[in-house]
Amino acid sequence: MLTQEENELLTRIGPGTPAGELLRRYWQPISVVNELTEEAPTKLVRILGEDLVLFRDKSGRVGLLEDRCAHRGASMFYGRVEARGIACPYHGWLFDTEGNCLETPAEPAESKFHLKIKHKAYPVQKFIGLYWTYMGPKPAPAIPKYDLWVRRDGRRRILVQPQLDCNWFQAMENSVDPSHLQVLHQTSIAGNRTITDTTRGLTDDVAEFDFYEFSHGIMKKRVYKNGSVDEHPVLFPNILRQSNATQIRVPMDDTHTKIFFVRFDPSADGSIVDQEEILPAKYVKSYKNPPDALHPFTRFRMDEVQAQDHMAWETQGPISDRTCERLATADRGIVMLREMMRREIDKVKQGLDPLGVMRDPGHGMIDSKLAESLNGPEYRRELREMAA
Ligand code: FES
Ligand SMILES: [Fe+2]
Repeated sequence: MLTQEENELLTRIGPGTPAGELLRRYWQPISVVNELTEEAPTKLVRILGEDLVLFRDKSGRVGLLEDRCAHRGASMFYGRVEARGIACPYHGWLFDTEGNCLETPAEPAESKFHLKIKHKAYPVQKFIGLYWTYMGPKPAPAIPKYDLWVRRDGRRRILVQPQLDCNWFQAMENSVDPSHLQVLHQTSIAGNRTITDTTRGLTDDVAEFDFYEFSHGIMKKRVYKNGSVDEHPVLFPNILRQSNATQIRVPMDDTHTKIFFVRFDPSADGSIVDQEEILPAKYVKSYKNPPDALHPFTRFRMDEVQAQDHMAWETQGPISDRTCERLATADRGIVMLREMMRREIDKVKQGLDPLGVMRDPGHGMIDSKLAESLNGPEYRRELREMAA
């Protein structure tokens, strides 16, 4: 159980909040690359409580600017892109990708006023079929070279989950909550087995859980009664590594989250694949009907693993009220993640880099240490489905 204050500390991510400052130390994906086209060169992006516009100018440069124009606040989303940047639709103030104001059309020709204007701008990088941004203090670190993001012996593709209408930390706590797999997902993982006790589901397959910290986050480990073991890391602070995918949970604001899957399918013979720069992307349809309603005014699909998780996360509430939860021994991974968050928030307050921030762009591939020896094809299928 947390106090209201402790709950706010972990969940609020707007500018100036402790968790918001922590998350601003990491590059975050904001868009699939092919969402920007010549016909539609701007895209609204809501991230960490800020409304921004992603755009590609006619010289091919990509920028991310505050959506609200520095002049009198019209939306830059409706701006016109040109070779030098993007011009506000209202009075034509022109900004480049760095947020420099290059022109203020209605001012006298000799006016230097535009030199005093600086629009909020964040850097953008193109990486594995996604545009990424970094919203923290400069200098920006490197995007970590997690194995599934840089391995060349296979193909990557992107999946975009339907918008998650709740706080990001509910999804992260779920990733250090191993006991739900055998209950919430029992029908999806049972395969040919008959479940005789739907309360316990497949809980009795598991001998024990364990959690330990490693260099990039927390490992959750299940030991099955048949001796097999599986481990899945949380890559701190907002990534779940699964067998063949990473699931990146990007807070849009305190009560909405965008989830990108980067899936990696190794080539059968280990050969190097020369993959195209624009990766295939699939947009998963809403798991809810109606799609934009909140519990209890919507009905969740429950026929696949990710839909089941989506139900569990959203029905906890827009921001789960942790002042009235009752954690048990199986929830110790959740306690560990909260402690890690508090510790890393403190590091940021002291001016230090939090866990997982990589400063050297030349760093080697990061082994995200997933180990899998699951106890049956059903479980493997479940993991494939989670990332499918
Ligand atoms: S509001 Fe953008 S140029 Fe006036
Ligand atoms: Fe799950």
